[in-house]
Amino acid sequence: MKAQLEAIRKGALDSIAAAQEMAGLESLRVKYLGKKGELTALLKQMGKLSPEERPAMGQMANEVRAHLEEAIEKQAAVLSQKALEARLKLETVDVTIPGKRPAQGHKHPMYSALDEMKEIFLNMGFEVMDGPEIEQADYNFTRLNAPENHPSRDWTDTFYLTEDSSVLLRSQTSPMQIRAMEGYGVPIRMVSAGRVYRKDEVDATHSPMFHQIEGLVVDKGITMADLKGTLNEVIQQIYGRDTVTRFRPHHFPFTEPSCEVDIQCYKCGGKGCPTCKGEGWIELLGAGMVHPKVLRGCGIDPEEYSGFAFGLGLERLALGRYKISDMRLIFENDIRFLEQF
Ligand code: PHE
Repeated sequence: MKAQLEAIRKGALDSIAAAQEMAGLESLRVKYLGKKGELTALLKQMGKLSPEERPAMGQMANEVRAHLEEAIEKQAAVLSQKALEARLKLETVDVTIPGKRPAQGHKHPMYSALDEMKEIFLNMGFEVMDGPEIEQADYNFTRLNAPENHPSRDWTDTFYLTEDSSVLLRSQTSPMQIRAMEGYGVPIRMVSAGRVYRKDEVDATHSPMFHQIEGLVVDKGITMADLKGTLNEVIQQIYGRDTVTRFRPHHFPFTEPSCEVDIQCYKCGGKGCPTCKGEGWIELLGAGMVHPKVLRGCGIDPEEYSGFAFGLGLERLALGRYKISDMRLIFENDIRFLEQF
């Protein structure tokens, strides 16, 4: 029995020392010291020994058990130290490597132009309003005095959402004039920017979706002089103090009189170049004195109150502001393009 004990001790110690993984070590523990382990099996045979032999053998068996337990514990410590070192090595952070700067985005150039505009109007005492892109034909056309047969009402021009042509994607921000007067009454000074939709083919100057800024001022004694003064000031703040403007007669159903406002080409100074298509002038916006019918439709007495309104395309503004040649660039969201601003 003594020889058997020695054999177990030797075999076990060798395998324990050779164990390279925790799992292997654990199965060795089970193999030798577990309930069905070799040492336990041997101890069960103690009964066969003579009473004189038993104490010595018992003591030896206990020593072997203690020895193996100690060896397993030591090897476990070695293995876990090794595992820790391996992990540390794997997860080493070299703090001397220069950091990678995360790519930082920024505002889209068109929204920068919009913010600039809003700032100008806020400083002039205007309020900024928001309104729906899905609009009632009533607000988009009828209450803006657009007659039933007006070409812009055609299905080939406007995106209708219902068969009866009562709901549509707004084709202009002008319905915000009605919403402002209806919602807030007079006096009023507001601007409202947002998307508008028209059935236009995409090219360098057209897109079926674009942005407009609408403006409306209604108060007692508002005249065309206020319209000109306000718009000249805004245009000069954007394009520079020496910008030359031109107010040209035009027609809109909801303003009377109406005009279009041009600026002298900032590229060629009026001589004519590709930017102004040889005209010397660049069309900037539509404007006019709010039609008495429109005022009356919103419960405002045109004998007492008058006002002016204007609407301009934001894309065109951004194109001019940042010298961008093609409107498609504004919507394509090519990072290489956007990074330039
Ligand atoms: N809504 C007009 C357009 O889209 C612009 C405009 C707005 C004209 C306000 C006059 C007054 O062309």
